[in-house]
Amino acid sequence: MALLAGMLYVGCGADKVAPPVGAAMNEEEVKNLYSVKCGICHGADGALQYAGAKDLSMSTLPLEEVHNQIKYGKGTMPPMNKVLDDAAIAKLAAYSMTLRKVKP
Ligand code: HEC
Repeated sequence: MALLAGMLYVGCGADKVAPPVGAAMNEEEVKNLYSVKCGICHGADGALQYAGAKDLSMSTLPLEEVHNQIKYGKGTMPPMNKVLDDAAIAKLAAYSMTLRKVKP
């Protein structure tokens, strides 16, 4: 686990990551990407809480931190910076905010 955590922080040059190219993704593709990459743990509505995942519908985390957490991961949540570019991560972060039922 310490090794994994170490690996997460070497991901600085992550803008050169291969597809999906986030900038070109439309709303439907972002939604599909969420269901593939996030839905297993967070569920379509964000409230599944599988594997100890936080309930996204109840989250009050600021957008910037949501972005970083998707990028670098946290606990059992896997980092996405090796598989997704920053634009895609930004769109997923924004999408996850739409699942909220609470406003910070
Ligand atoms: C393997 C299961 C898993 C997957 C896949 C996963 N997450 Fe998570 N997620 C977690 C866990 C566990 C936490 C709680 C981490 C902690 O605080 O220790 C979490 C926390 C979060 C939080 C923080 C919520 C808060 O209020 O603290 C956000 C936002 C989030 N995930 C979004 C996503 C998005 C978007 C994706 C897809 C790119 C994703 N997650 C994929 C397990 C997962």
